[in-house]
Amino acid sequence: MTRKILVTSALPYANGSIHLGHLVEYIQTDIWVRFQKMRGNTCHYVCADDTHGTPIMLRAEKEGVTPEQLIARVWQEHFDDFAAFHVAFDNYGSTNSAENKESAQDIYRTLKANGLIEVRSIEQYYDPVKNMFLPDRFIKGECPKCHAKDQYGDNCEVCGAAYAPTDLIEPFSAVSGAKPELRNSDHYFFKLSADSCQQFLRQWTRGGSLQAEAANKMQEWLGAEGENKLTDWDISRDAPYFGFEIPDAPGKYLYVWLDAPVGYMGSFKQLCAKTGLDFDEYWKQGSDAELYHFIGKDILYFHALFWPAMLQHAGFRTPTKLFAHGFLTVNGEKMSKSRGTFITARSYVDHIKNTEYLRYYYAAKLNGSMEDIDLNLDDFVAKVNSDLIGKYINIASRCAGFISKKFDGKLCESIPSLDKFEHLRNADLSLNEQVAQAIATRELQPSANFNFFEDLDSNEFAFINSLQASSEKISSLYECRDYAKAIREIMALADTANQYVATMKPWELAKAEGQDELLHRICTVAINAFRIITLYLKPVLPELAKNVESFLKISPLRWEDASTLLLGHSINTYQHLATRLDPKLIEAMIAANQESLKNMTESHSQQRHAEAQQPSPQSSPASGRGSEGEKPSSTLEPISETISIDDFMKIDLRVARIVNAEHVVGADKLIQLTLDIGEEKSRNVFAGIKSAYDPEKLKGRMTVMVANLAPRKMKFGLSEGMVLAASGSEPGLYILSPDEGAQPGMRIK
Ligand code: 2FM
Ligand code: ZN
Repeated sequence: MTRKILVTSALPYANGSIHLGHLVEYIQTDIWVRFQKMRGNTCHYVCADDTHGTPIMLRAEKEGVTPEQLIARVWQEHFDDFAAFHVAFDNYGSTNSAENKESAQDIYRTLKANGLIEVRSIEQYYDPVKNMFLPDRFIKGECPKCHAKDQYGDNCEVCGAAYAPTDLIEPFSAVSGAKPELRNSDHYFFKLSADSCQQFLRQWTRGGSLQAEAANKMQEWLGAEGENKLTDWDISRDAPYFGFEIPDAPGKYLYVWLDAPVGYMGSFKQLCAKTGLDFDEYWKQGSDAELYHFIGKDILYFHALFWPAMLQHAGFRTPTKLFAHGFLTVNGEKMSKSRGTFITARSYVDHIKNTEYLRYYYAAKLNGSMEDIDLNLDDFVAKVNSDLIGKYINIASRCAGFISKKFDGKLCESIPSLDKFEHLRNADLSLNEQVAQAIATRELQPSANFNFFEDLDSNEFAFINSLQASSEKISSLYECRDYAKAIREIMALADTANQYVATMKPWELAKAEGQDELLHRICTVAINAFRIITLYLKPVLPELAKNVESFLKISPLRWEDASTLLLGHSINTYQHLATRLDPKLIEAMIAANQESLKNMTESHSQQRHAEAQQPSPQSSPASGRGSEGEKPSSTLEPISETISIDDFMKIDLRVARIVNAEHVVGADKLIQLTLDIGEEKSRNVFAGIKSAYDPEKLKGRMTVMVANLAPRKMKFGLSEGMVLAASGSEPGLYILSPDEGAQPGMRIK
């Protein structure tokens, strides 16, 4: 029976680049979706950019653009990055869409009508300079416990203590630096503490929708029976806020984490409008469609508590399953800017190009659990080269040429071993059972490890059967997201195929007299093995599979095609299908990242979702403070060793006017600046600030440069100095500006 399936991946924030950490999830999901489609199921995959909240609003302000302009630019970047990695959404939307607004506001209205919204006045820090209430993450101060300076308003990164922002010593606004004031404001709460919610969640989290590790975590959050640990969830934010206004509450906005998951619906609505699908068929209570959310383990709380509770009480169906995955480490450690292992999707594409290599490597590591996975760069090169090139591509590259040269591009009409043992095929038995039975009756006598040389017919027949019979096993491994095991199975088949070719040596048969028939047979079987292995790898390697399909002149492979063989069929001449991964490309990528990111301090949130502060039972929902997307600014980098005034004076800092600013062709990080520092000739400086600035906006601006830095020869020309920019633990870069009145050439001291 064909299943109706709707699949989502978490919505990436619209203020950062997609990196290899994010891609673990999108690749994992895409493989699953492609597999479902190949199986013949009706499967839709939707996603969107997560666009609302304070960090995005402030970032746009800093860049001098509107939030809408910022999110439009980032949307395009994300869209292109996903396309480059063959992540094939059926719709990629934005949470800032009319469809999402309608759904989010409707859900709010229904929750309210069901008595699940309550208004309460809460006291919160307010920035009197920016005229805005401050989310916890935008208030900093001294930790009340260990007295570390510059800690966030919700917990200390030095001693780990959790507290309220009001506990901070000498708090200040991370936005303006002002001393915050406590003010009252009405907030809207979703009554998660209501009996109906607690009971529903208790039952839902035990109902098989969660992986065992996730279900345990949920029990912790829910507490023991009767304990009712959940507290109401603050779902409103005061203006100014980039988001959707709460119906009938001017100046109050829906908190970003309310409209983000609703974005799954908003994006699906757009797909319905494009294709005529019926929205209610997938989303209404009682729907017979399956709904799956792939997420990172750090946002389980939102997806396993808030989201199902919202859906349930607003008349919608709840998710069939949540598939949570772990984080990515690179070479066994967190991705690091200084080590050059903070790798964006763009930088991977620029240096390595072939994105299917990464898809393959991730697939070989993912097993459907919440464990972290490691991208070991040496192992990456070794695995791609030995598995994909050495085992898989090798099957075709060693045999295909003979088919074109000697047999006019045509495969054999039949295979003798299949004809000989045809009577063993019994429709009531699976292929494995057939072979097992034939071996038991000694009709078939393959050797334990396929000694094709000894008994070609028996072994060849058993080999072809095992290729075809693996279809169900590999299918169930994809289904349960144990891609690692699926890949091991597939590579074992490739090993046998290689053993077959190596034993039968078609290159020697080609030279020998009277061996054409055997040569034709061996190459036909090898090409068929290659076709079936391609089919099994297709969810992981869609582009390569497409090229194989055109080489074999076949229509797009579907799962059921594993049961057929290509006989008497003409194929195209073999064209090179893939090249070895050159380790030098990786070295160059790491070196380039090291160079371009060297001025950025390490981030504490290099994981895909770490920007989203995890509400815990002790923190946000309980206190009604809520979490708020990304951290606003850096954790303090340790102050460098003391220097003398003479040391400092060695650095000649000058006020500079940016006369011209331009993109550098072929450089993804650099902007070329022409700087006037009062000298006769202007200075040419390449600055790694492209991620944060539009060159057009820089022209005419004043800034600060190091004027006595030794000139540096770069790939794109000579750089005659350096402009200064501030950066913190989060992505983001801010060049300096002198106060009004400063003139080009003035010395800074
Ligand atoms: O953690 C994050 O990156 C969020 N932007 C994920 C949102 S997923 C869904 F709820 F929208
Ligand atoms: Zn502390």
